[in-house]
This record gives sequence, C-alpha cells and structure tokens, in this order.
Amino acid sequence: MESLDGKSAIVTGASAGIGAATATQLAKEGANVAVAARREDRLNELKDELEARYDTVIEVVPTDVTDEAAVAALVEATVEQFGGLDVLVNNAGLAQGADVESMTTEEYRTMMSVNCDGMFYATRAAIPHLRESSGALIFLGSFAGKFPRPFNPVYAATKWWTRGFAKSVSAQVGTDMGVTVINPAAVRTEFTVGGDSDFSGAPFEELFEPGEAVEPEEVAESIVFAAKQSPSMVSELDIYDRGKFTGL
Ligand SMILES: NC(=O)c1ccc[n+]([C@@H]2O[C@H](COP(=O)([O-])OP(=O)(O)OC[C@H]3O[C@@H](n4cnc5c(N)ncnc54)[C@H](OP(=O)(O)O)[C@@H]3O)[C@@H](O)[C@H]2O)c1
Repeated sequence: MESLDGKSAIVTGASAGIGAATATQLAKEGANVAVAARREDRLNELKDELEARYDTVIEVVPTDVTDEAAVAALVEATVEQFGGLDVLVNNAGLAQGADVESMTTEEYRTMMSVNCDGMFYATRAAIPHLRESSGALIFLGSFAGKFPRPFNPVYAATKWWTRGFAKSVSAQVGTDMGVTVINPAAVRTEFTVGGDSDFSGAPFEELFEPGEAVEPEEVAESIVFAAKQSPSMVSELDIYDRGKFTGL
C-alpha cells in the first residue's frame, strides 16, 4: 500500500458528513486536501481545525459541482497549488423528493445534476492528472445503487448511474489509475431522503442512534484504504450496518 503523506487530494462535498470525515482522514494521513462544496464558512472551519491538528495544507475551494467551469477551476487550482493530483473523491450528492409520480422536475434535475453531472465534470477534469500520478479515482455510490428501491427511485438511479460510470471509466483508463466505488448503507450524516418509508425526511444523524447505522468516519477510513491501493485497486466496497440484511 502507498503512503498518502505529501499526496494531493480533492474531496467534493467536504463541508459535511462523509466528505468532511474523508478530508479529515486524508489530512491525518499527511495528504494535502482541496475541500470543495458550496458552504464556504464550513470549509474554512474545517481548514482551521485540520491545519491545527495535522502537518498538512487544506485548500478551500468553494464549488458548486453542477457548475462545469467551477469544477474545472477546482481541479486546476489544486494541481497548481499542490503540484499535481493523486486522489479525487467524488462525494458531493443529495436526495430530494420521493415517489416518481409526486416528484417535481426541479427535484429530478437537481439530483441528476449534482449526483451525475457533478461526478462527470470532476472526473473529466481530473483524469489527465490522475493518469500522470497513477492516482486514485473514488466515487460514492450507495446501497441504493445496487438494489431496487421503493422510495425515491430517482435518487437510487443516480447511484446506479454512478456505479455504471465508474466501472466503465475504469475500463477506459485501464492500468493508468485505480477506480473505486464505495457503497454505504445508511450513514449518520446530515443526509436526508424522502419517500414513503421509515425514513421520515429527518437527517440520518437524527434518525439513527449510534450503532444503528454506519458512521461517516467508517466510510472515510474505507475511502482512504482504497486511495492507498497501488498497483492494484479496490474496485468496490460495501459498508453496511450489521443488521442490514435482517428482515429482508
Ligand atoms: N448518508 C447516507 O446514508 C449515504 C448512503 C450512501 C451514499 N451516500 C452518499 O454519500 C455522499 C455524501 O453524503 P453525506 O451522507 O455525507 O451527505 P451530507 O452530510 O448531506 O453532505 C452532502 C455534501 O454534499 C455537498 N453538496 C450538495 N450539493 C452540492 C453541490 N451542488 N455542489 C457541491 N457540493 C454539494 C454538501 O455541501 P454544500 O451544501 O456546502 O454544497 C455536503 O458537503 C453522497 O453522494 C450520498 O449520496 C450517503
């Protein structure tokens, strides 16, 4: 396994949840990290916290991943600041709405543009740099991207898209870089999902008690594990709470 000390990473959706935990774990490993999301105040707080704790540089790059030019600029700024790019964590994502028949077009387009377009823009901009570094390209898929989902099918479909995209990009880039999909089941973050189900629309960190769902730090550790693989790769990792299959 490769050390991440001194390596360069980008984490999208780093202002909360899995993304913030991943930036933290990468910084702990000695990587310099560009943290990207829309909420700049959150990113600045994270930068202050991580630079105080670890010998690392955190670059705050406020970015809306649906903005193609902003995502390209994020990648270029990171390469310029850190001298290259070793790891991209395509993490920014959200769920809105519920059933297909009640979903607004705006909700549909928002999920498609953040969860799919955003990952495409970042991947496209990062590939040349990851090829140069023989780096790691990591995607947040989901349990929802592996099985049919009766609530919020559109969110689930964006995660099927993510897995399909990642696997096909992996086929395209071949031995040039590692490509990994991480598939968590419910994680205790600010993430919410609508739908007519036990998931009431409250943030998962409120909906689930500790131990009832995965913690963001556990997902972050698996992302770092994947980022360290070389010359092999972790193709896909499923991270579920132990009770995930009870009651099926
Ligand atoms: N939590 C779960 O149960 C779970 C399970 C499986 C997979 N996942 C996936 O894991 C990833 C992270 O989710 P999470 O649980 O950490 O959710 P979260 O706590 O709600 O965080 C989502 C992050 O995405 C960012 N984001 C949303 N829209 C964005 C945009 N247009 N541009 C840039 N950043 C944007 C948010 O930042 P700003 O609002 O500051 O922009 C935030 O940092 C997502 O892809 C999600 O689908 C989550």
